[in-house]
Amino acid sequence: MEKDTSAYRAHCLVFAYPAQGHINPIVELSKRLKHKGVEVTLVTTTFISKNIQKEVSSIALETISDGFDEGMTGQIENIQTYLERFERVGSKNLTELLEKLSRSGRPVDCIVYDPFLPWALDIAKKFGLVAAAFLTQSCAVDTIFYHVRTGELKLPLRGPEVLLPGLPPLEPQDMPSFIYNWGSYPGPLDLLVGQFSNVEKADWVLCNTIYELEQEAVDWMSKIMPMRTVGPTIPSMFLDKRIEDDKDYGFSIFKPNTDACVKWLNDRPKGSVVYVSFGSMAALEAEQMEELAWGLRMSNSYFLWVVRAEEEAKLPKNFVEETSEKGFVVQWCPQLEVLAHEAVGCFVTHCGWNSTLEALSSGVPMVAMPQWTDQSTNAKYIMDFWKMGLKAPADEKGLVRREAAAHCIREIMEGERGEVIKKNAFKWRKLAKEAVDKGGSSDKNIEEFVAKLVARKS
Ligand code: UDX
Repeated sequence: MEKDTSAYRAHCLVFAYPAQGHINPIVELSKRLKHKGVEVTLVTTTFISKNIQKEVSSIALETISDGFDEGMTGQIENIQTYLERFERVGSKNLTELLEKLSRSGRPVDCIVYDPFLPWALDIAKKFGLVAAAFLTQSCAVDTIFYHVRTGELKLPLRGPEVLLPGLPPLEPQDMPSFIYNWGSYPGPLDLLVGQFSNVEKADWVLCNTIYELEQEAVDWMSKIMPMRTVGPTIPSMFLDKRIEDDKDYGFSIFKPNTDACVKWLNDRPKGSVVYVSFGSMAALEAEQMEELAWGLRMSNSYFLWVVRAEEEAKLPKNFVEETSEKGFVVQWCPQLEVLAHEAVGCFVTHCGWNSTLEALSSGVPMVAMPQWTDQSTNAKYIMDFWKMGLKAPADEKGLVRREAAAHCIREIMEGERGEVIKKNAFKWRKLAKEAVDKGGSSDKNIEEFVAKLVARKS
């Protein structure tokens, strides 16, 4: 622990949204806060806590019901129903938890909450606590949704270019899918815009990004709200290595095939493997899956491909057997260990924000195959602004054909463009480490946040 232990020890209740892509970053933020001397209690839902395959023992865990203890199928399609019940059941349970912690002599000073659950801010205010929103997506994406909330960005989109304060000119297809395909997913769009519904009452808005990566957007948002960058929320053991007890970094609701993946990678030459993953939610069309499968084979590289159990039936018949000399297909892997492995030379990714930050922090170039939500915006930044990868071109049906996938992989693994991209990847990796290392931009922001919490009590 870095802080003077004689000082007041602030207590943060960290309230996670129950999805893998939201839990990972907020758990890592919790560990950074703990490292700065804060007492942290992580709160998640009963369903998630029952399904954790790998947990973080260094963080105290409390569980509340969201009203769906047995889970909820079709959460995205029924997001409105889910959120309404979560607010009704969860706000009562969160209130009771705060009272319980207070009675047990561990009163809370601050709620760090995922603004997918904006009502947590109102509870913090009711109890006179500090409220800190933790935004899990890129600052550019947050800025876009903020502009929808204020009406600066009118929907549906019109014209060939989107010009917004704090952002570079973007084409409509670079916008998050809920905006570009306006009307197709009204529930998720409301959820993302709703993050900013009461943001003016937040004491802090912590953003999972690196200042140097998104300076323009962060500077603009910081004028509107008390925003600070705190990313990348990558386990310390993969970056600055300052947190000694960072061994159990995962908090996974999927079971990783760790030993088999690491052993398989250990047997491959340096930089020879293409790692492929589409995160915890994306569902590929069967035709896309088939094209990618043959594209991987055409690339002639080794590949480690994460195909979640519910996606497996879309693999071409006999593909796994026929490509077993070159490829290894698993249902879930320890992604950070894979990205950190020297055998990995390229990451074919859906560009979820965690995967993007993890690749960037590991210095692994990307082939971007965005599927939906924020991924198209992330892909634009990866290719055109950070120059850390190539976006695989899609055809008129929106599919990346096998030739296109194989071409992008070869460009990165063997081509001249790949050399430039690898140099940039190395640069971003260094920058990510510096941001969280002592005195870095995110480290200083976390310190300021903690110091102000402590000062409130002195
Ligand atoms: C979702 C959205 O889809 C994404 O666009 C948004 O930015 C965050 O919420 P998800 O699709 O799961 O997340 O993608 P991503 O953000 O990349 O998060 C996936 C997480 O799962 C990463 O932390 C990654 O390391 C982890 N993972 C993935 C594994 O540990 N093992 C795997 O095999 C695959």
